[in-house]
Amino acid sequence: MTTFPTDFLWGASGAPHQIEGNNVNSDWWYYEHVMPHLAGSGDADDSYHRYREDMHLLAQAGLTAYRFGVEWARVEPLPGEFSRAELAHYRRMIDTALELGLTPVITLHHFTSPRWFIEEGGWTGDTAIDRFASYVERVCDILGGVEWVCTINEPNIFVLMTRMSQALTGVVAAAKDAPANQSTDRQAIPRPQPEVSDRLIATHQAACEVLKRRTDAKVGWTVANQAFWTKPVNADYLAIEQYEREDRFLEGSRGDDFIGVQAYSTQEVDENGLVPATPSPDNTLVGTAYRPDALGIAVRHAWEVTGGVPILVTENGIATSDDQQRIAYTGEALRHLALAMSDGIDVRGYLHWSVLDNFEWGNWEPTFGLIGVDRETFERHPKPSLAWLGKVAQSNGVPLNEV
Ligand code: FCB
Repeated sequence: MTTFPTDFLWGASGAPHQIEGNNVNSDWWYYEHVMPHLAGSGDADDSYHRYREDMHLLAQAGLTAYRFGVEWARVEPLPGEFSRAELAHYRRMIDTALELGLTPVITLHHFTSPRWFIEEGGWTGDTAIDRFASYVERVCDILGGVEWVCTINEPNIFVLMTRMSQALTGVVAAAKDAPANQSTDRQAIPRPQPEVSDRLIATHQAACEVLKRRTDAKVGWTVANQAFWTKPVNADYLAIEQYEREDRFLEGSRGDDFIGVQAYSTQEVDENGLVPATPSPDNTLVGTAYRPDALGIAVRHAWEVTGGVPILVTENGIATSDDQQRIAYTGEALRHLALAMSDGIDVRGYLHWSVLDNFEWGNWEPTFGLIGVDRETFERHPKPSLAWLGKVAQSNGVPLNEV
């Protein structure tokens, strides 16, 4: 019988740039307009204005948590110039979540930065840590009553995106070839540069210091857990890839209040790096293998590498147009999660990716949402998976035994 603790958080996740719309001061808005292979985010799902409706749908279905982000490019549109109105907007979102009985899980950086910050030198520039820390300091003003804060989303994927900032320093030609997230073209996915990774870790630690001083929130960051594997002959390559692409960042969370685990599929490596998934009708809409067991592998690995930092599953889901497949995948993933928990791994909650079908970093085709969106009218269309996950939440896992 699969059951979860009574105070386990059940929710869904989203990210500002992917759902809000018109994030015009961000670096990504610029990339979308200069890189021909990227679709534009445009109005996205207009969740900037429709967040109450989105939260209401989650709460009504029975979920108890919502992970959403504060958008730095809105809060600090120019260096040192903070918008009180935007901070008040995000405070209203926090209040709305609390009013509807949803525990807010707040992300402070989810792949997008202010365009001026990249022009100033970006993540490897001299001002990076101070700039991010001063933004975090301002956001602390609105974080009263928030229990969970994630500093930087998936630094281990984001570190690869920092190459895109070349577009903002005039090297547009190079940027055209820069990889989009979830790219399955192995040539396009270089290994992270350790010095850039270390800079992100230092930035995270500076943000944690501010948050611990100014708030009562539990603080951590979220890592893309990729369940790396290899054929025995390539074991040495596995160790290198796994360290540079994941474990360095998990180690960076030792001492944090929690680690956000984000798992979707598994990833083979060989002597040439990442191996694309073998073509199969079961592959997801982002070309990855259908591997609901990835979540169990991920939490076990994160637990081991961090030395027992409590886990919040901050993303898990599947890009599919078949909602029954989403339910099957999620049910299986949750059974693997429950097994890991029964082995003693401390997991505090499960947040499904994603609340809405949304802008998947240059592409609108991969649909991860529990809720569909008509992009002309912005009408929301909850899918059966939303009601199903709400039922799992309300009964702490009972429907998992009925599949
Ligand atoms: C993760 C990102 C998220 C979304 C999902 C599918 O890498 O954090 O924004 O793109 O993958």
